[in-house]
Amino acid sequence: MGVLRKRYVLSHYLRLRKLGKRWSLKLAEFLDFFYILLRSRLFRFIDFCGVILKFYSKNYHFAKTDLAIISEYWLDSPFAISRRYLKLKLEPDVYQYGETPLLTLEKIAHYAHITERDCVFELGCGTGRCAFWLAHFTGCRVVGIEQIPEFVDFASQLVGKGDILAGKISFIRDDFFNADLSPATAIYCYGSKMDDHQIESLILNLRDTQPGTIIITVSYSLNEIIASSKNRAISREYFPIIAQFDGEFSWGKATVFIQKKLPQYPS
Ligand SMILES: C[S@@+](CC[C@H](N)C(=O)[O-])C[C@H]1O[C@@H](n2cnc3c(N)ncnc32)[C@H](O)[C@@H]1O
Repeated sequence: MGVLRKRYVLSHYLRLRKLGKRWSLKLAEFLDFFYILLRSRLFRFIDFCGVILKFYSKNYHFAKTDLAIISEYWLDSPFAISRRYLKLKLEPDVYQYGETPLLTLEKIAHYAHITERDCVFELGCGTGRCAFWLAHFTGCRVVGIEQIPEFVDFASQLVGKGDILAGKISFIRDDFFNADLSPATAIYCYGSKMDDHQIESLILNLRDTQPGTIIITVSYSLNEIIASSKNRAISREYFPIIAQFDGEFSWGKATVFIQKKLPQYPS
């Protein structure tokens, strides 16, 4: 074989190998995506069966509200609504929406000792499912803060439509980094895709909360963000962890941290 012919065969072979690699990568990505999708659908189905058995059977009013939320978002899912909203805001990552499974929320309420004496602020309450569960099953007052208008409007409509909790639960359209959190005795924030800079802003906003306020976060503890931060404004903050556990989410397990605001800053 002549030198030119040999070179031609080699370059052809290399191109085919590259193409093959690219396709096998694409196939691996597709299989990965398909597996995650299947896993989260299956998880949500099993979770829903648990919700019917454990919660709907005990509380008719909660069942009615929860089914109203599920049917409202049956065709246009909260994931799609959130994606559209984030696209309009030109956010680089539009896949930020997720929901706390109610069985995991029950565990959170248990570890955080949420009772009817509490006023829980849910930062980024999404469709409001967790807020309604908390109010119905722990008896606490709940304020849901959310940036997406569709979610806030529909959840508020449900309260207005004679939910027996009217007066105990409210939804506000606001940016939780700037909202007044001072009336809260407990704060739940599930935003596992928040970056360190956003968590620092949250920590700054927690300054006005009452001493002893419980702060619940998923996937990260406030102290680990403070420890690695270069922001001097938060370097003296400290939130002791009073409990932590691995909670089930549709995408897998994540550590839930229950922290407490100190009565006063350590000197
Ligand atoms: C991961 S979802 C959690 C929904 C719900 N809390 C749950 O656990 O099922 C986060 C929600 O926070 C909202 N969110 C994100 N950043 C926000 C901000 N700065 N102010 C208000 N809401 C925000 C998003 O629109 C989204 O609905």
